[in-house]
Amino acid sequence: MPSETRRVVRPRLVSEIPTPALVLDAAALGRNIARMARFFNAGPCRLRPHVKPHKTPEIARRQLAAGSCVGLTCATVSEAEAVAAFCDDVLIANEMVDADKCARVAALQRHTRMTVAVDSIAGVEALSAAGRAAGVRVGVLVDVNVGQNRCGVSPDTEAVDLARRISGTDGLTLRGVMGYEGHAQPIRDRREREERARDAMGALTATADELRAAGLACDVVSAGGTGTFDISGRFTGITEIQAGSYALMDSDYGEVRVPFEQAFWVLGTVISRPSRDRCVADCGHKALTKDHGLPEVNWIAGAVVTALNDEHATIALPPGASIGVGDRIQLVPSHTDPTVNLHDVFYVVEGDRVVDIWPIERGYSEQRSARLSTDQRAGTPRGVS
Ligand SMILES: Cc1ncc(COP(=O)(O)O)c(C=O)c1O
Repeated sequence: MPSETRRVVRPRLVSEIPTPALVLDAAALGRNIARMARFFNAGPCRLRPHVKPHKTPEIARRQLAAGSCVGLTCATVSEAEAVAAFCDDVLIANEMVDADKCARVAALQRHTRMTVAVDSIAGVEALSAAGRAAGVRVGVLVDVNVGQNRCGVSPDTEAVDLARRISGTDGLTLRGVMGYEGHAQPIRDRREREERARDAMGALTATADELRAAGLACDVVSAGGTGTFDISGRFTGITEIQAGSYALMDSDYGEVRVPFEQAFWVLGTVISRPSRDRCVADCGHKALTKDHGLPEVNWIAGAVVTALNDEHATIALPPGASIGVGDRIQLVPSHTDPTVNLHDVFYVVEGDRVVDIWPIERGYSEQRSARLSTDQRAGTPRGVS
């Protein structure tokens, strides 16, 4: 596909935004951030907002500025690199096992306090080699499986054995444990969600106690998400909560009934009105994902998305709906993280006005570097190597 040179027109009104696009309500975002910061203001547990739902430095800055934070949480080294420029304490709540990623973590440790989740001896060795090579010590949390059954060692002697190994390894500093209760986050029934989260936090804090009893360092006990922030965040012994989705929200968390507002949408344009009971918009699953269900339709009561294709959203309309070709629609994504990752910017709006455009550090920065190197090669004049 040839690259184009296009005149960039900065939209001043929502109606001028090219679709499909992500639209962010700055006021709703501000209220969500302030609300979460207020909850953790009381302590003793603190907030470590996860940046992976939004991947947007401007939002992360606002989360830190709101207070109650010990730092930020990331899922990838690319995210960590994006926020380490303005955050001095970053947790990668995920396993880093290859030499390049571990070297990048160790490079960040030179100016930012870095901590990484580990659940294997191979992970310990990779991170330790990178730390030694860079002449730094990288912080480590033992990742404990508290019921999600994703990563993590079991919350018993396996966790203590791994902690002991980390503690005796050059280039690493053992800081404690983490256990993400991801299985509890989406549970609709509050009582059941509380039970599952408390079981998980019981297992995690018991593991932390075992580490301390064995004479091992365990200052950090990190857990939590948007669905459990006020359960795990008040559980004795948990020191920080990694919630992320609360800032932007999605329709899935809307059904969990957490006290935050929907702050972003996918804006689309109706490109076809083939029948009285159906219209089609230009925002398919290249603009938003359906891994947590189809998106909801704003503004038109009774309208329902019935299908997403690559570039199409098919919408069933209620009787009498007057929407026509060229009109705008707003869809509420069911899952923030993968939807945001499909876009390059948020159009930040106040009412009908576009007040700013915030870049999203989507994807993987190593691919951006690879792309840059091929662009440069393509632009290199003949005869110049
Ligand atoms: C390890 C970890 N911690 C915290 C979170 C934050 O969860 P949420 O975005 O639901 O608040 C996630 C999300 O998937 C996660 O994987």
